[in-house]
Amino acid sequence: MELIEAITGRRSVREYTTETVDEQTISRLISAAVRAPSAVNEQPWAFTVVRDQKLLDHVSHQAKSHMRATISGSPHAGHFQSHLDNPDFHIFYHAPVLILISAIAEGPWIVEDCALAAENLMLAAYSAGLGSCWIGFAQSFLNTPDGKTALGLPAPWISIAPIILGRPKANPPLVSRQEPRVTWVG
Ligand SMILES: Cc1cc2nc3c(=O)[nH]c(=O)nc-3n(C[C@H](O)[C@H](O)[C@H](O)COP(=O)(O)O)c2cc1C
Repeated sequence: MELIEAITGRRSVREYTTETVDEQTISRLISAAVRAPSAVNEQPWAFTVVRDQKLLDHVSHQAKSHMRATISGSPHAGHFQSHLDNPDFHIFYHAPVLILISAIAEGPWIVEDCALAAENLMLAAYSAGLGSCWIGFAQSFLNTPDGKTALGLPAPWISIAPIILGRPKANPPLVSRQEPRVTWVG
């Protein structure tokens, strides 16, 4: 697949079949993720792969409670509230796999580094016929002591990119983009 085809074809997928993703495929995606550039080649990332559906159900439930308790004042509170109040809303959309990218070192660019790894992973997933979606809903809970305990994450790690993966039930429609604001200087 041409890279540009993956860039334009990738979608955030929110409906998955129950088909699991094998370890070899997941390892290939992680190999693609770590080809991302990182500041001073620090590679400050670690990958936690979760396929236990009961654990993902538990984290979804806990993350919703955590967000409900902390959301007031957030610019998107109104948009999120209806999801948080819906008992059927699963933050991971029952995807068969979660790959959490955590920053494991300190530094001024760890978020950028992990986000670049996440984009590589999502593009590689698309080219392998898989769907993916970054689940920001999980982030703040996964950075609490309870969240770290749930996934067995060491206390100093910072959860940056929770990415769900799986076989899409259908290919979601294109989400529009605004015209880019471009200034040509000189
Ligand atoms: C940092 C970040 C956090 C996101 N969090 C969520 C989320 O919690 N739940 C969700 O369904 N989608 C989430 N998304 C996906 C965005 O909604 C999606 O990328 C956007 O609507 C554009 O759609 P597309 O990815 O299909 O082009 C997140 C994306 C990013 C980059």
